[in-house]
Amino acid sequence: MRLNSWFGRNRNDQPCKRVGLRRLIPILILGIGALSLFYHYALPHLFRLRFHLGLSRYDLGFYGFAPSQRYHSFNEQSPIVQISPAGAKCDQRYTFLAPRGDSVEHPGPMIIDAKGELVWMKNNWGTTQDFKVQHYKGQDYLSYWQGDEEDGHGRGSWYMLDSKYTPQYIITPAGELEGDLHDIQITVNDTAILSIYEPIPANLTSVGGPEEGWLYEGVVQEIDIESGELLFEWRSSHTYPPEDSYQELAGKGHERTLGFDYFHMNSVDKDDQGRYLVSGRHTHTITCIDSNGEVLWTLGGKQNDFTDLSEGVATGFKWQHDARWHGENQITLFDNMVNGAAFNTEASRGLWLELDLPAREAKVSQRYDHPLGIMTVSQGNLQVLDTGNVLVGWGHSSAFTEFSHDGEVVCDTHFGASAYFNFGRIVSYRVMKGSWVGTPDTLPDIAMVGDSVFVSWNGATEVDSWVLEVWDGENIENMTFNAVDKVERSGFETRIPFPSDDGISYYRVAAINAKGEVLGRTEIYSPQQAVAEDTSFGPPLGVTAIMLFSLVCLLYGLYYAVSRRKAHIGALYQLVRSKEDDSDSERGGSSV
Ligand SMILES: *[C@@H]1O[C@H](CO)[C@@H](O)[C@H](O)[C@H]1NC(C)=O
Ligand SMILES: *[C@@H]1O[C@H](CO)[C@@H](O)[C@H](O)[C@H]1NC(C)=O
Ligand SMILES: *[C@@H]1O[C@H](CO)[C@@H](O)[C@H](O)[C@H]1NC(C)=O
Repeated sequence: MRLNSWFGRNRNDQPCKRVGLRRLIPILILGIGALSLFYHYALPHLFRLRFHLGLSRYDLGFYGFAPSQRYHSFNEQSPIVQISPAGAKCDQRYTFLAPRGDSVEHPGPMIIDAKGELVWMKNNWGTTQDFKVQHYKGQDYLSYWQGDEEDGHGRGSWYMLDSKYTPQYIITPAGELEGDLHDIQITVNDTAILSIYEPIPANLTSVGGPEEGWLYEGVVQEIDIESGELLFEWRSSHTYPPEDSYQELAGKGHERTLGFDYFHMNSVDKDDQGRYLVSGRHTHTITCIDSNGEVLWTLGGKQNDFTDLSEGVATGFKWQHDARWHGENQITLFDNMVNGAAFNTEASRGLWLELDLPAREAKVSQRYDHPLGIMTVSQGNLQVLDTGNVLVGWGHSSAFTEFSHDGEVVCDTHFGASAYFNFGRIVSYRVMKGSWVGTPDTLPDIAMVGDSVFVSWNGATEVDSWVLEVWDGENIENMTFNAVDKVERSGFETRIPFPSDDGISYYRVAAINAKGEVLGRTEIYSPQQAVAEDTSFGPPLGVTAIMLFSLVCLLYGLYYAVSRRKAHIGALYQLVRSKEDDSDSERGGSSV
């Protein structure tokens, strides 16, 4: 009855001003509330969207924030990447990354090949960062940091895995300190240069903090890997006071565990002259230190020693990462330009700088800009490849781009939808390329689904083809297997059609290298262990589709609410009037 009274009422009646105003004020307040909610909560997120004309379905999120694929024989997911332009000739070596974020099921170190196919991944506890190949005593090792991330830095250790993926070294700093997630560099002298954050007591009055406060000091250590002996140490607070920071205090600095991260050291490097190079993100500085710990010069920030010959770009980098030596007087870095601000429109870039050290002059010799103007609010790196090309990892934005030395894009790989890059659903602190030979000491994995055998071998780089072997049915005490099919390896997982022969009771699969040698075999299986085809493999609902659907629902709801409210006001007015006019029996009857 009452509902009826809200609709289809007589609209020809005169409006009643008193009641209308009394209703208008709450509606206005409601409107202001809704607008304020929208402005403070919805709008910043809308500004983080990065829709451009001509984005692919992948970049629009048709396959999800972080498109991923599952395997039959391997119980992990790996990203589906988009490489453009199609058929681009980029560095054919492996890519090393450590994806993490809300859209990543199991974060950890990961190797993918030049086509974006998974080669190896590991499900690590905590956070994994800075995954790369390093050389130590003539051998290649995979190195990464693993530990707990806290407030932008880490408390953990560095792991060095050999070609069998067995941890051979676990590196921790000298003294009572813990390893930070940002960097480890193994030198030609078999030492390691480490990044460390240490909370130290500090007078923070100069930045509006407590007199007896805490800041995070950036500590560089060089240690001997074998003995752990400390060879060198440098501390940021001896050169940079708290007021050199561009980072806002934002209530930090009162507790040891919530110190003021004023320096934010995020890369350490050393050249063959023994000069250390340290990047401090929050002071916008790159610092050169000699082997005695003396600061030779500072590039950028409030203590900049250089004249900028490139209109402020060579010394005006902001929130940067990954400062590296290239010869005596050249350095590269990843210039973020931004630090988490959603409304910022500045694009990040790679920079190659040339320094005239005696004259203290700096100039940009090359810039590496992404055509989409990617804004990397945190993380990122730049690696100079052996070819002279430059690989830029866009950190918080799930992309990496190979440039020619002159700054032309050679190929661009996305491992998340670019329209949502700023949401950080999938990120990798760094992305590196390199060669790697992996010979895991596990057995290959197998799954029989329907009438196909799926086989994979996490981390095995040398497999060329797979051979299906079946038991000859003779002596079960001493089984003999015969090869019945050979299938070339096709990506991480290879499908082998199973022969439609009811007589097969046992089979196994052998991994063969390019020379025809057997690298390993699966265990023995029976075709009775086959599982039915999994139908849950279908494509995920697109993010954009969900967004459009939600938007349409919202707009419809809003429209409905507003039109209903109009009718409601009309009805209230009717109520009042119907009391005044008792003779109108029809209206009186419908309003209870
Ligand atoms: C802290 O620094 C301020 C000025 O920066 C100075 O006036 C004050 O005496 C210092 N306090 C201590 C305990 O050193
Ligand atoms: C390696 O050791 C040599 C000899 O001590 C030294 O001159 C050189 O600077 C060192 N290089 C690095 C990167 O530590
Ligand atoms: C199993 O058979 C092979 C030949 O097929 C033979 O060389 C080997 O000695 C046998 N082993 C046992 C334990 O019987």
